[in-house]
Amino acid sequence: MSGADIERARQILTGARRVAVLTGAGVSAESGIPTFRDAQTGLWAKFDPAQLASSEGFRADPPLVWRWYAARRARVSEAKPNAGHRALAAAAARFEQFTLITQNVDGLHVRAGSRNVIELHGNILRSKCFAECGVVFADPDALPPGEPPHCPRCKSFLRPDVVWFGEMLDPVVLERAERAATDSSVMLVVGTSALVYPAAGLPLAARRHGAQVVIVNPDETDLDPIADVCVRARAGEALPQILATV
Ligand code: OAD
Repeated sequence: MSGADIERARQILTGARRVAVLTGAGVSAESGIPTFRDAQTGLWAKFDPAQLASSEGFRADPPLVWRWYAARRARVSEAKPNAGHRALAAAAARFEQFTLITQNVDGLHVRAGSRNVIELHGNILRSKCFAECGVVFADPDALPPGEPPHCPRCKSFLRPDVVWFGEMLDPVVLERAERAATDSSVMLVVGTSALVYPAAGLPLAARRHGAQVVIVNPDETDLDPIADVCVRARAGEALPQILATV
């Protein structure tokens, strides 16, 4: 992590009026939540996303998929927001417009105190009816028994309220994220490999509309070429330094 990159990122954010932030699994790594694509520890290195994160996989074995999400939900419930989450929450009030767009389903940004959070891929603590009859359980402790439980209205199964592979994002949610990105004068991109679309397209859209792009990631990503600065560091270390005095 070079001091010069931190300083450059701070300069870009200082005086910025409309900021949009895109976060990925990397921002929660220091809270003990595994990322998806880390070679050793990443979820997709150990589990088959097609089997566990798709409606086909769920239809094939609902208890297997439900138990896997229940285990992830337990881990998320035990996790605590880290210094990166907290720095973003604290910085929001310093800008005229600050929108936090996350791919994460762990709810840690909101638990850190962030408001105006756009959850692109849903939230693992919520469950909804697999048949989309409209039933949603926001509180996991209120879920009926069963693995998976049945929908109290239409008797179909309940499923995690997250976006699975091959599924579309909620168009209203996506439209809000796109507007925040294209309205922004600075887009801060933290802890994402930028391999999953449409999320990875948001910084590109922001850039096309004239925004400066700041990336925080210990590793290279496909978005690096459009960035004004890439801070090679972990979010929990870099974000407090970048955002503390802007
Ligand atoms: P990935 O696992 O693909 O990427 C995580 C990124 O975070 C990598 O680029 C790491 O280098 C970086 N990283 C790791 N530790 C970090 C730290 N402490 N601070 C900052 N960065 C760190 O996760 P995402 O990009 O979020 O989709 O994956 C995008 C989507 O793919 C997820 O939302 C999920 C997954 O399939 C759905 O569930 C729909």
